[in-house]
Amino acid sequence: MPNQDPSDPIVVWHDHAVTRADREQLAGHRGCVVWFTGLSGSGKSTVANAVDRLLFERGVRTYLLDGDNVRHGLNATPQILAERYGDEFARRFGLGFGQQDREENIRRVGAVAKLMCDAGLITLTAFVSPYRSDRDAVRASMDAGDFVEVFVDAPLDVCESRDPKGLYRKARAGEIKDFTGVSAPYEAPESPELQLAAGSATPDELARQVIAHLESAGILS
Ligand code: ADX
Repeated sequence: MPNQDPSDPIVVWHDHAVTRADREQLAGHRGCVVWFTGLSGSGKSTVANAVDRLLFERGVRTYLLDGDNVRHGLNATPQILAERYGDEFARRFGLGFGQQDREENIRRVGAVAKLMCDAGLITLTAFVSPYRSDRDAVRASMDAGDFVEVFVDAPLDVCESRDPKGLYRKARAGEIKDFTGVSAPYEAPESPELQLAAGSATPDELARQVIAHLESAGILS
């Protein structure tokens, strides 16, 4: 994996003894990042989990990075961090949902996903990732063909009527600020590798469309 950002002279890139090609040969398939983006409630996590299960059953090495889960650990919210580390630490390192916090959320996840790709995994990510520039920055950090953007395209009214976590109701009531689709923007991808009409198909049908795309792109044989 090339050093993409040699901007700090006191940290110097070391090449690894075991290469990506070595790891891909062991796995029997190449690594890549399948990046699911869409509104909260669009079905990103459900479809990504279904894809993960189908790949696992084929013997493919995968991992799923899911927004809600990653925000409990690596990208914990200020509320989660405050309990253990105190308020100042939580303010400094916790990530909320303002534009800059989301940018950092996606930057960190993009860096982790890139490492997992380098480890030869088919890495699935399910983040709202509402800002085009943040997604494009992850794409730009990777080699051509390694980043597969999947737009889980469900209309806002469908997501809002599902409201699986009751968050749209809270956002409409003003109890949650900066809520994507309600009080914060969602910038749809302009040319994703794959667009799923998520309002009108089952998660399983959508997962099979993703698998078919990975096959036609030569990522799966
Ligand atoms: S992202 O915008 O930074 O990519 P991420 O995918 O990590 O978001 O987290 C989104 C999840 O956090 C949603 O599925 C929802 O459950 C929850 N959430 C809480 N507050 C918000 C908000 N203001 N906007 C969107 N999602 C929110």
